[in-house]
Amino acid sequence: MTLLRGAVICPDPEVRARFDEAAGEIPGIQIIRELRRYPDTLELMRLVRSSVPQVVFLSIEDLPKALELLEALKSQARGVQVVALSRTLDPGALLEAMRAGIRECLAMPFDRGELAEAASRIAAAVRDAPVLMDVTEHVYAFLPSKQGVGTSTVAMNVAVALGRRKQGEVLLLDMDLSSGIIGFMLKLSNTHCVVDAAENAHALDESIWDQIVCRKGGIDIVHSGRLNPDFRIDAQQIRHILDFARRNYKTVCVDISGNLEKYSIEVMHEAKTIFMVVTPEIPSLHLAREKLGFLHRLDLADRVQVLLNRYHKKSLVTPSQIESLLGVPIAFTFQNDYQGVHAALQDGRAVEPVSELGKQFQTLADAILGLKNNEEAGQAPQKKRIVEFFSILPPRVPAAGGERR
Ligand SMILES: Nc1ncnc2c1ncn2[C@@H]1O[C@H](COP(=O)(O)OP(=O)(O)O)[C@@H](O)[C@H]1O
Ligand SMILES: [Mg+2]
Repeated sequence: MTLLRGAVICPDPEVRARFDEAAGEIPGIQIIRELRRYPDTLELMRLVRSSVPQVVFLSIEDLPKALELLEALKSQARGVQVVALSRTLDPGALLEAMRAGIRECLAMPFDRGELAEAASRIAAAVRDAPVLMDVTEHVYAFLPSKQGVGTSTVAMNVAVALGRRKQGEVLLLDMDLSSGIIGFMLKLSNTHCVVDAAENAHALDESIWDQIVCRKGGIDIVHSGRLNPDFRIDAQQIRHILDFARRNYKTVCVDISGNLEKYSIEVMHEAKTIFMVVTPEIPSLHLAREKLGFLHRLDLADRVQVLLNRYHKKSLVTPSQIESLLGVPIAFTFQNDYQGVHAALQDGRAVEPVSELGKQFQTLADAILGLKNNEEAGQAPQKKRIVEFFSILPPRVPAAGGERR
């Protein structure tokens, strides 16, 4: 028999103790989380996203508060069953709870037989309507064609630009274990890092996560810690971390190293789009072509978008030459702004949003969010919308039988 994963929200210590005791004797129920106070709705949803309970045992001693939480569960976590817990069977409160959609009510002293029956009814309801959680598809990998082309700079600035729009929580994950720089760029002092996330990957919950992330510039960041080139994150760990991130964030940006380690490839498999950063220089473009070919063989080339960074008018290689060399269009261009980037680095922040480069980062962020720049974001129309490139395959990449998505 699969166990029913339950969370308990119960400020009343006696009700809680009696319920725990009774639930402990019912073999079908596993209490995975217990809150000894009422959370706010945000905290409740974090708990649900990180622990994914199938049933919440909710004390109704403060009925309005309990009903508010019930509403949040109904709208944001469909399928999570709610069972009311109370000291006494107060008919007025029970009726109101039932009207609000609670189907099971249990009162002290929590008769084992009744509890077991309730558990089997809930298990049946869970089977009929599994928990539907909001998980985001918006995972983006930032891949350098060659080290030093500005990938981490772009990833960090785009993540901050995404956060600026306040369209949901943004996570920036530095997965460059050999030369991670995000922590330094933003002057982060948190001692925990992506290695801790990997080591705890199988059991991530919001209390562990709170210790691992830093908040800066309106976004959450997990930096890569001290240089750790020998540490390997396995595919399973990556999936656990990204599953957790997908449940808790609207957009996830992952900075990877460009060395194409196994874990970087796993990240790219999980990503909706792989942003490959190039500069208008021959070595970067040569490696970009090589990497496109490699990604094509992994069936990943069709999700690549090329970002041209450090572009300036006097660049010896023109954008159209780059496009014909790579066989794919340049999706977005970021200008060379040594001073702007340098000043931002000195202050540990993103580049000025009002600068030309800052606006270009915002344009990519807005395209990711599906904002039309002119209306919702209050900016000049962008030249190229990201969707225009979703289905474009690089024609000049060696064919290896990859299918178009
Ligand atoms: N648009 C830009 N204009 C000027 N300098 C930039 C720009 N983008 C990145 N840089 C600089 O390029 C260098 C490499 O950037 P980084 O983001 O660490 O590259 P990568 O992650 O690809 O190795 C850094 O010194 C950074 O400040
Ligand atoms: Mg980097």
